[in-house]
Amino acid sequence: SDYSLLILPGDGIGPEVMAEVRKVIGWFQTNRGMRFDVSEDLVGGAAYDKHGKPLADETMAKAQQVDAVLLGAVGGPKYDNLDFSLKPERGLLRLRKEMDLYANLRPAQCFDALADFSSLKRNIVAGLDILIVRELTSGVYFGEPRGIHDDNNNPENEGGRVGINTQRYTSGEIRRVARAAFELAKKRGNKVCSMEKANVMESGILWREEVQWVHDNEFPDVELSHMYADNGAMQLVRNPRQFDVIVTDNLFGDILSDAAAMLTGSLGMLPSASLGAPMDNGRPKALYEPVHGSAPDIAGQGKANPIACILSFAMALRYSFNEGQAADDLEKAVEKVLADGVRTADLMGPEGGTPVSTSEMGDKITEALSRA
Ligand code: NAI
Ligand code: MG
Repeated sequence: SDYSLLILPGDGIGPEVMAEVRKVIGWFQTNRGMRFDVSEDLVGGAAYDKHGKPLADETMAKAQQVDAVLLGAVGGPKYDNLDFSLKPERGLLRLRKEMDLYANLRPAQCFDALADFSSLKRNIVAGLDILIVRELTSGVYFGEPRGIHDDNNNPENEGGRVGINTQRYTSGEIRRVARAAFELAKKRGNKVCSMEKANVMESGILWREEVQWVHDNEFPDVELSHMYADNGAMQLVRNPRQFDVIVTDNLFGDILSDAAAMLTGSLGMLPSASLGAPMDNGRPKALYEPVHGSAPDIAGQGKANPIACILSFAMALRYSFNEGQAADDLEKAVEKVLADGVRTADLMGPEGGTPVSTSEMGDKITEALSRA
């Protein structure tokens, strides 16, 4: 069958790392007979240069129709002084908002060859493979009321102001992200740990009840546990391999996923995905992107590590195209290349060595696919 894919390389190193994903796509087309219907368009500063805004309406419409969008990165010094509404980041935010991507997936995977890059000891992280599912469209970052107000008639309050945010979740918002987490767990280790603070927060009590409800009614065969998010932070650092899928709200997920990222090392290695509601063909709306930005400091020099973007494509294979075997093979090819000692500059340890270029890393990965 045909898989439709919209590629948005963006700015800075975005086009450089995306060129390597193109090689990988070509490899799967030639060697596995997969048929990708690939289109390419502009986002971020590149779109601003051509259209005067960071995402053209036609590009937005296209993104709504394809099985998956793969984005490189946006932004750069050239655009830093633009009006807020024209900034490159707004292109990305528009995609996330209009596609209603409520489940943000951040894997933390530690390849053995890079275990010494972790902030933790090798024996705690080697072989780590967990997935944090963060609710992305609701919670305290969006809840009303919010604002900074005068609090002048309160003589006890030095400074006389109050800042307010509201943590607010509906049962529907919790159920849909819980469903996403259980579905993902079925394609992995079949285990979900839900994190909240039901001991001190009403929204936490609701979160726990609704996740349990989805489990009992729809996914009784997936193992479910609940954990307070503060304990979860401790457990992530103490023994992260106890987890498979972690599902949590927007705020806790923001913090826990950044902490988990450092279990695995370089920014150049970290993929992500954001999923929305299923479309008519049953596939979820989906945006895949590396966690890193446009890296203007190394752009145009062939130094960027393409692995984060390549692993983002592996996630697309697994979660949008249902090609789990191909995703495994691609991840194994990356692992092999790293085990062979092939390194881009960002992965050079203190022992030094000669780094490969962006393009050489892409070539090595497709070669490793062929050797498998
Ligand atoms: P950044 O992620 O672009 O770079 C941080 C550091 O990591 C830099 O030293 C960079 O050279 C290095 N780095 C990042 N990705 C790398 C890779 N694949 N290979 C090797 N080294 C890599 O973050 P920074 O510097 O804060 O932001 C630069 C621009 O990117 C800004 O305009 C920012 O707004 C934008 N940005 C865009 C994001 C996105 O498109 N999702 C996310 C984060 C930042
Ligand atoms: Mg963050």
